[in-house]
Amino acid sequence: MKTLLKKLTETASPSGYETVIREMIKAEISTLSNEIKVDPLGNLIVTMGKKNAKGLRIMVAAHMDEIGVIVSHVEKTGLVRFSNLGTILPQYLPGSRVVFLNGTRGVINQDKPDDLHKIVGQDKHFIDVGATSDKGCPVKVGDVGVFDRGFMELGKRVSAKALDDRVSCAVMIETMKKIKNSPHELAFVFSTQEEVQSKGATTAAYEIEPDLAIALDVTPSLDILGIKMQVDLGGGPAIKVRDVGMLSDPRVVRWMEDTAKKNKIPYQLEVLEVGTTDARVMQISKAGMPAGAISIPCRYVHSPSEVVDMNDVQATVDLLTVLLNNPVSLQ
Ligand code: CO
Ligand code: ZN
Repeated sequence: MKTLLKKLTETASPSGYETVIREMIKAEISTLSNEIKVDPLGNLIVTMGKKNAKGLRIMVAAHMDEIGVIVSHVEKTGLVRFSNLGTILPQYLPGSRVVFLNGTRGVINQDKPDDLHKIVGQDKHFIDVGATSDKGCPVKVGDVGVFDRGFMELGKRVSAKALDDRVSCAVMIETMKKIKNSPHELAFVFSTQEEVQSKGATTAAYEIEPDLAIALDVTPSLDILGIKMQVDLGGGPAIKVRDVGMLSDPRVVRWMEDTAKKNKIPYQLEVLEVGTTDARVMQISKAGMPAGAISIPCRYVHSPSEVVDMNDVQATVDLLTVLLNNPVSLQ
């Protein structure tokens, strides 16, 4: 699993440019189903099984895109100004490295600050790619890049960029390998453009028309800051009750909780006050559907060094596997 996580997180594939990560995931899952397709927005949709009398059509989504940068302007000096793909947090920028999809590397820093102790906006930052003039600059307006940071083991935990949401892609791949005699028709969607408002999950849900939808994503674990939100790293998968974009269907929450309890899988409940997931758009696709989400606790979300606990990752695979291999009771 760590090998897979390393591979997935070290791939550069920001929102709208998911081809590279999609091809990598496709290679991982190609033997698991003969119904694999790529839709017009680039979602990778893998269907497994047929639904029987006790079954539903269930869509499970994990987004494969990651946050990134896009060149907006190249200055005469060769310094590159940029805009964001998804939410870039300026406190993580100075000193970070980026790699563009054409292979160009660069370092980010900021203009001379008025106050050294104040975090300044992304517009006060630039990328230095080593160019000495605009003419010699190896990137141009519209080129995109991502944080350049390798995977690292930290005891039972691991750190990488893009664990949001490649860790869920890894969980989904591992779960797919464990699907056995499921009564359901399962549509596993590696979705695109989640970081820019869940575009991929929107069209995929419209096409699939599921009876039930589950999103897999990370959620900020603030256990070291000790504030507001009670999701602990190492405390097990977080069953979402609500976030800024949606209220999970209470029946889905109950089904997930009961299943976790019955199978002695650790879990926590999540009430998130920043951000949302693909479940937001799936829930209200077409005539709507019961929807929920399972979140993997993650520290430093949207930084170049996110951290997850491997026990949480494994417990998420365990929970998702029992949920999908058995009939669903919503009450
Ligand atoms: Co994110
Ligand atoms: Zn995410």
